[in-house]
Amino acid sequence: MKTELSTTTTLFTSHFMMQNSLVVRGRGGAAACVDPAYFPDEIDAIRSALKDVSQGYCLLLFTHGDFDHVLGLGPAPGFRAVIQEEALKADKGAVEAQCREYDEALYLSREPPFCFPAFDRTFGASLNLEKEGLPLTLVHAPGHTADSALVLNTEGEWCHAGDMLSDLEFPIVRHSFAAYRSSLGRIPGLLQEHGIIRVVPGHGRVAEGWGEIMRRWDRDFDYIDRLETEVRRLARARETLEACIEGTRCFLFGGRPIPPFQREFHEGNVRTLFAEVARKY
Ligand SMILES: [Fe+2]
Ligand SMILES: [Fe+2]
Repeated sequence: MKTELSTTTTLFTSHFMMQNSLVVRGRGGAAACVDPAYFPDEIDAIRSALKDVSQGYCLLLFTHGDFDHVLGLGPAPGFRAVIQEEALKADKGAVEAQCREYDEALYLSREPPFCFPAFDRTFGASLNLEKEGLPLTLVHAPGHTADSALVLNTEGEWCHAGDMLSDLEFPIVRHSFAAYRSSLGRIPGLLQEHGIIRVVPGHGRVAEGWGEIMRRWDRDFDYIDRLETEVRRLARARETLEACIEGTRCFLFGGRPIPPFQREFHEGNVRTLFAEVARKY
């Protein structure tokens, strides 16, 4: 599904897990694409939209190195791929295998098959692209993964939050709860700094307006706070990881039970958290 998000940006929402990709027209023929995904015909449409707005300089920006975000544009020459530097430590074979697994389950073949991309450029804490004709700044926001980053439009149009602030997903924390908490805590200040009141999540509907953004922000902090309190309590009582998983099986998110198809991610959160807190007791 294609939507004009602003005068410079087109949003593509995939039929795969409502994955959101952006095509951005910059100044002087510069253009950028954020997380192009997912099905081959959808990627073709994104590639063609990017071709329409770009006259030479073109950047491919990835919010993080999970397979669904680094599918790329395939064999389209002339763009430079950018990601946060922690992505260089990724287990490329594991990311490729995960993509294959999802594709095989959907009887989907990609030509050429997915290969973890070669990156032309990386950044540490942040990367500002204004001097390159693109009103964008990327900010490292680890927690979901070590390499997660936000893409902020410096003219106040939108922020692509990677796999954060979704209306469909609770926080999925595979790297670190402490880092996730810190990154989530920084988001309102970063949005205010650039006058942004529209957040595009990696998956799901766009959060329009400060009220909806903060509703998701509060809901995500509430989940993290409650899970951390409970896992700490169990770890302090010298319970095992298995007991922590069992003890948080009926956990609520946004007042509702976690649906069966997302339970593995919730269990993953408990594993991440247990590894962080158990060593302290
Ligand atoms: Fe992800
Ligand atoms: Fe994702």
